[in-house]
Amino acid sequence: MSHAPRNTNHAPRNTNHEPRNTNHVPVSKIPLLSVSNLTVVFDTDDGQLTAVDDVGFRINKGEIVGVVGESGCGKSVTAMSILRLIPSPPGKIVSGVAQFEGEDLLKLPISDLRSVRGNDISVIFQEPMTALSPLHRVGTQLIETLRLHDSISKEDAWQIGTEWLGKVGIPDAAERMHAYPFELSGGMRQRVMIAMALILKPKLLIADEPTTALDVTIQAQIMSLIQEMVDTDTSVLLITHDMGVIWEMCDRVLVMYASRIVEEAPVKEIFANPLHPYTKALLQSMPSLTEATERLNAIDGQVPSPLDYPCGCHFADRCPSVMDRCRSAKPALEDQGEDRKVACFLYDK
Ligand SMILES: Nc1ncnc2c1ncn2[C@@H]1O[C@H](COP(=O)(O)OP(=O)(O)O)[C@@H](O)[C@H]1O
Ligand SMILES: [Mg+2]
Repeated sequence: MSHAPRNTNHAPRNTNHEPRNTNHVPVSKIPLLSVSNLTVVFDTDDGQLTAVDDVGFRINKGEIVGVVGESGCGKSVTAMSILRLIPSPPGKIVSGVAQFEGEDLLKLPISDLRSVRGNDISVIFQEPMTALSPLHRVGTQLIETLRLHDSISKEDAWQIGTEWLGKVGIPDAAERMHAYPFELSGGMRQRVMIAMALILKPKLLIADEPTTALDVTIQAQIMSLIQEMVDTDTSVLLITHDMGVIWEMCDRVLVMYASRIVEEAPVKEIFANPLHPYTKALLQSMPSLTEATERLNAIDGQVPSPLDYPCGCHFADRCPSVMDRCRSAKPALEDQGEDRKVACFLYDK
């Protein structure tokens, strides 16, 4: 993807807007979601694969946390497991805790979890056609979200729905309320999804590669729309394979590689001083950091198969700094100063 960060010459993330994340005004440190020891497997014809291996992280109130990594690294499975939305079977959450406002979402009765899904945590997927019903008008679907969770008249809900379509930048909102999803462009459908996801003012928005299916100019518009729409009380878990999007949007980033988190840091710091060799490689492969005429510096080698991860560091085979011990033991994600963590023996103290 070639979406270059718009603000490479400035500090990361919306410093030209409200200062959510300047050096002096840190976002809150009050945890909203704390995930620990999350391990998720899938049974396949070729055996059991580990999609997510002992993953832990937190999202603070009002914070935008990015998850970045190549395709297949476990980003979506991590996010979907929090809401127990992975297909089961073949998927299985083997272990883990996902503490959200005092409750473990992985243990919550399914009826309570449904209420969390609608009210407190909402999701925007990559391809909105899979989330929108083709059979119902956009307006009907939008107000259904409202009416399921609020006792509100149909007329009032229709009014609020129309306002939201306007807010997310859909022209002729009153008319578009009557449209079917297939009558809208991909970008417009994704705007509808954003309205549906935010209309109930969730505490956490999970956005899983929300612009990947869209063309480049629309991608940038949708990203800035999410940024504008998310108010300071809403936290976001934003999944992307694009470091440019991380730079543009996020406060903090989790770098995932082959089912594990390998680095965690505030966005500014990860760009200024990446620690993990995989993070460095990801940054070097960013189009915007190389000259436009230069060829992309793709990361050599392949992500190992999740059916057969090595017993040592999963990145060992591609790592320019690999040492003997990296092939026999898995480095744990360890603290490296305030707010920074890395899973790499290079930093073993
Ligand atoms: N429904 C499924 N059945 C079998 N394997 C799956 C399923 N969903 C995901 N996986 C596997 O889990 C791993 C992680 O996938 P995913 O979280 O979707 O990666 P990412 O979002 O980082 O691209 C991959 O190896 C993928 O093939
Ligand atoms: Mg994914």
